[in-house]
Amino acid sequence: MTDGYGGFADNFADNFADNEDAGDFDDAPPSTIMLPGGGIDLATRIGSTLLPNPVTTASGCAGYGKELAKFFEPAAIGAVVTKTIMPYPRSGRATPRMAETPSGMLNSIGLQGPGIDAFVERDLPWLAARGGRTIVSIAGGHVDDFVALAERLKGAPGVVGIEANISCPNVANRGQVFACNPATSYDVIRAVRDVADPQVPVLAKLSPDVTSIVDIARACVEAGADGLSMINTLLGMAIDPDTMKPVLAGITGGLSGPAVRPVAVRCVYQVHAAMLDGQMAQVPIVGMGGIRTGLDALEFILAGAAAVSVGTVIFNDPSSPVRILDELRAALIARGFGSLEAAIGYAHR
Ligand SMILES: Cc1cc2nc3c(=O)[nH]c(=O)nc-3n(C[C@H](O)[C@H](O)[C@H](O)COP(=O)(O)O)c2cc1C
Repeated sequence: MTDGYGGFADNFADNFADNEDAGDFDDAPPSTIMLPGGGIDLATRIGSTLLPNPVTTASGCAGYGKELAKFFEPAAIGAVVTKTIMPYPRSGRATPRMAETPSGMLNSIGLQGPGIDAFVERDLPWLAARGGRTIVSIAGGHVDDFVALAERLKGAPGVVGIEANISCPNVANRGQVFACNPATSYDVIRAVRDVADPQVPVLAKLSPDVTSIVDIARACVEAGADGLSMINTLLGMAIDPDTMKPVLAGITGGLSGPAVRPVAVRCVYQVHAAMLDGQMAQVPIVGMGGIRTGLDALEFILAGAAAVSVGTVIFNDPSSPVRILDELRAALIARGFGSLEAAIGYAHR
């Protein structure tokens, strides 16, 4: 029980590391531009934004960056993706709202936060002053909420992207999640893209709890999404065998952590394949779900992600984003890649 995931994840990571001794790779990819000193070009593009490296925090797992600054400079990673912000302050759902599960966790935080005004006046300037690049996650129960939030962010300091969290329930539509339906996904993304600063890329954050993630991804890209973030948590629940009642006050919660990684990698791979097939326009994918090491991050890059987000692992290793960046750099170099770009989608070749 060392890792907060019932020990399973540590054992798995150890075993995986044993198999990954960075020895010779018979099938090494041709390297592109190696930088002097054995460095590697890790820059990656999300729409009009060029990030110096592909590692970001996952929304909800690092607040608004202040907590992280005790462990590393926010500017050291590609971007900080902030906790989803809503139009008004919210206290979130009742406790208990976190539960440990084998190789992951359940949460039902319920989008707790200070609301957009306090966020823009207090949190964003702080991050910008530290040189941090910020991707602001926004959500609301109606399309109008998303529009108001995107408008409020115009001209705000340090914002290099907007992540529309369409994986939250759509109040107008009897609590259904926007991202479970191509039409509602389209409506939100179109509305946000129409009002947001044209210089700021808009990402759609998708839910894996759908029949066809490609259909939702295509709708978002047709609506003008400059990128796709995938995946949000999977809906799950846990029952306490002693009380014989649901563990979470909210009954169900979102499952995250290593347990969801295969689902996330599958989603990224399927959507990238659809882009390569010409079924939809090619846009960058930000991959996430259970990333704990540089090799986990590499898996997402090979599946087709141009960047990755680090989430649940931050709770037991707050400096993990910079560690994962270092490990990813080493893993790419060991495999003969001269740039991150050369590795994106390599598993499809
Ligand atoms: C405690 C917690 C809070 C989260 N809050 C948000 C949120 O506010 N907005 C959002 O889009 N995703 C939220 N997520 C989902 C993460 O951003 C991420 O998509 C998911 O956890 C998968 O990545 P991971 O396994 O690395 O955590 C949250 C996840 C956790 C664990």
